[in-house]
Amino acid sequence: MSNSYALSKALLARARVVIPGGVSSGNRANWTPFPLYYDRADGARVWDVDGNQYIDYVLGRGPLILGHGELEVIEAIHQQLKRGEFYAGQTEAEIALAELICSLVRNAEMVRFCNSGSEAVHACIRLARSATGREKIIRFVGHYHGWYDGIAWGFSGVKPSPGGRSLPMPMSLGQPSSDAVNIVPVEWNDPDAFTHAVTTNRGQVAAVITEPIMFNGFWSNIQPLNSFLRLLREQCDSNGMLLIFDEVQTGFRTSLGGAAEHFGVAADLSAFAKALGGSVCLAAFAGRKELMRLLAETNTVHTGTYNAYPPAVVGALTHLTLLAEKSGARLKRVHHHAALLERGLRELARETQLPFVVRASPGAVTTAFRGAATPVTNFRSAGEGLDFELQRRWHLALQNRGVRITPEGLWYVSAAHSANDIEVTIDAAQDALRSLSPRKGDALC
Ligand SMILES: Cc1ncc(COP(=O)(O)O)c(C=O)c1O
Repeated sequence: MSNSYALSKALLARARVVIPGGVSSGNRANWTPFPLYYDRADGARVWDVDGNQYIDYVLGRGPLILGHGELEVIEAIHQQLKRGEFYAGQTEAEIALAELICSLVRNAEMVRFCNSGSEAVHACIRLARSATGREKIIRFVGHYHGWYDGIAWGFSGVKPSPGGRSLPMPMSLGQPSSDAVNIVPVEWNDPDAFTHAVTTNRGQVAAVITEPIMFNGFWSNIQPLNSFLRLLREQCDSNGMLLIFDEVQTGFRTSLGGAAEHFGVAADLSAFAKALGGSVCLAAFAGRKELMRLLAETNTVHTGTYNAYPPAVVGALTHLTLLAEKSGARLKRVHHHAALLERGLRELARETQLPFVVRASPGAVTTAFRGAATPVTNFRSAGEGLDFELQRRWHLALQNRGVRITPEGLWYVSAAHSANDIEVTIDAAQDALRSLSPRKGDALC
């Protein structure tokens, strides 16, 4: 079974002349068989320019938790655009959105808005350094906190140094090595490694930043081990370090109060994007008043021409209100359908001879092909036995059957997905898996 991607292919060739790789975000280049071009979307469906239809589990890589084309959100944006696009000044909606976030997230006592998760993380780190007068940041190997120079270290691992210290690898060429000096990379879910890092850097660490659920890369959807987040909290409290939760993935998807609510551990500062704005480009960072006030009372700078862009603010306010109303009924629907998807995929994992593994957190499922039997707890263990070629073929096999997931194997679920969508998806996934290998009992060739 194969779709035609002829029009996408032609557009990609044209794009590559004027847009490097034909894409505007580097990770979109990893698509199979090549980056596609899209025409329209509605609810849980998206159509590419060749007219192929997909049940969409990419959802803009997470933001579209209500699905595509939520009419109330579109109407709110439309009304704001008619009233005035942009004032480089304040709007009442901005206050209402900040109040809503503060009402949902523990320790979110004040909020500032910006435009991307990378920016929100950048602001949290600056604020933490300003508040503590320290420069080092403890971050975990394989966690993604955006692409900015100062923090994009250790996403792809560490390398040993002659002095025996693990040095974080830069994510990209072009990052100044001087930035690595302030990064202390630690394997996640490893209490001993963490406490060792705290001890050896005592008095120098401004903040510990973590994804509360390890969501990114080919090693996504790894849960924190029991009490690991609590250990981070305790060590931060007893060593004058701030705890930053990067809730860009978990914020408003894992629970309305983010991972902080889900795990019962509060951060000092938190970064939000994705499911905060839904279809609009909006991010935020929030935290305890005594920290956030530094932005107003000291020369701790946070600026941005498009910060709190009114159409984005009213879009996000409408979106988050819809998600939170009726005790989070729509989020419960997201979680319910994600659990159905997880169950169906786990059944397929039991049937197949392939090393097909399923992990999940509320509202999102990960599929991978991993030969190793060791438990997956962090970057080191998640990488053991991963079969990237099988993953690539799986992505394409699903796509050819009308199911769209990220190339890394992450499936985001929205409130627009129905139980029938999940059933159709599981049938397609079963067929896709069978196309990759014979069934149990059949001879492997
Ligand atoms: C956990 C996390 N932090 C930060 C970011 C960066 O957000 P953005 O792409 O909006 O800059 C991402 C993006 O996927 C993310 O998953």
